[in-house]
Amino acid sequence: MNILLLGSGGREHALAWKLAQSSLLEGGGILFAAPGNPGIAGHARLVALDARDHGAVLRLCEEQRIGLVVIGPEAPLVDGLADSLRGAGIAVFGPGAAAAQLEGSKGFTKDLCARAGIPTAAYRRAGSLAEARAALDFFTLPVVVKADGLAAGKGVTIAHSREEAEDALAALFAGQFGDAEAVIEEFLEGEEASLFCLTDGATILPFGSAQDHKRVGEGDAGPNTGGMGAYSPAPVLTGTLEAEAIRRIIAPTVRAMADAGTPYSGVLYAGLMLTRSGPSLIEYNARFGDPECQVLMMRLESDLGEVLLACAENRLGTIEPARFAPASALTVVIAAKGYPGTPETGGPITGIEAAEATGARVFQAGTARAADGRLVAAGGRVLNVTARGASVAEAQARAYAGVDRIGFADGFCRRDIGWREVAREQAG
Ligand code: AMP
Ligand code: GLY
Repeated sequence: MNILLLGSGGREHALAWKLAQSSLLEGGGILFAAPGNPGIAGHARLVALDARDHGAVLRLCEEQRIGLVVIGPEAPLVDGLADSLRGAGIAVFGPGAAAAQLEGSKGFTKDLCARAGIPTAAYRRAGSLAEARAALDFFTLPVVVKADGLAAGKGVTIAHSREEAEDALAALFAGQFGDAEAVIEEFLEGEEASLFCLTDGATILPFGSAQDHKRVGEGDAGPNTGGMGAYSPAPVLTGTLEAEAIRRIIAPTVRAMADAGTPYSGVLYAGLMLTRSGPSLIEYNARFGDPECQVLMMRLESDLGEVLLACAENRLGTIEPARFAPASALTVVIAAKGYPGTPETGGPITGIEAAEATGARVFQAGTARAADGRLVAAGGRVLNVTARGASVAEAQARAYAGVDRIGFADGFCRRDIGWREVAREQAG
């Protein structure tokens, strides 16, 4: 069959790489990607398509007889593209708009957790600056201030003083994130881990764990980003803790969504805080993590196309559990200088083949071809240099060996991706 993958980041490059190996494409099937990027072009036929134009996506699906649509990023999910496709009888991997609120609205998710008894930080929602200021009285410091809407991971402030909290709220209500409202939360202490589960609204298929590095600077300093690197699996999320997270967080969420008549179908990505009293939900995302997807795909042994199609066709209960290599995978994000502020785009990139000759795999995110055909930076996060190893330390060494072959003078990366786990490995 033919498959259409939507998106243009490093996550989609990793998905395209695995989908291109799927048995679904046997017999002449074509993988299309829209809009894609120069890396994705190595695995898929790129088509110019604006995912906001549902009519255009439907026309392409009809013209090219697409048997499965895989939606990578959150914006088209929150925008209801999966509903339009399902309405037309097309198999689609990704939740509809109502279910994607689990990512699109932090307030929605917090209210659902409260009703279902799901462990998460205590919170208050506020629709105005006055309400938000009053809500601050209910929390001790530090306190967490969040914009209630899609903010690409940048809408969260951990305020260590009342003044800092008020400043964040003032900026938020002055329109820093559009007309977002505020969620104010208790600060949770612990280590973070990401858990991925596929669900078709009934069956839950665990799909791996990872640890992200959200801050721009080494030692987890500086502003939040979309993620500067990741590794998988995350050994801090032990089998026992993963089972507890599925039982106390994922399963009641899937049940609540089904009971509300808006079953969740797709990947449910839980950002967890591993607190002293167990896993607590920080947030849900309605898509794969970026760059966590890159390390999951690096380990995945199952046929990605088969699994995503089974999810889209509500038959996850009939397939085998997903198989992942026990090895560790680690990815280092190379970003353009200026990120997560305004990145310097246009800088030339060389050395991808040399990096891959070391055994690493380079997933492309914000890249483009200049008029003369050279590869240049075209976004904040530009490359994801990814490698496997028997330990996180080995995967880390191999990923940085790849990084060191890349020529990108206008870029930078963290040199410490995986540091928590490497320290634990060294401590034995
Ligand atoms: P979010 O966009 O909700 O994932 O938040 C971004 C980051 O802020 C998370 O990855 C955490 O590092 C941090 N964070 C969010 N909520 C909390 C919380 N309640 N307690 C502690 N840290 C938090
Ligand atoms: N890497 C964090 C995210 O995808 O939300």
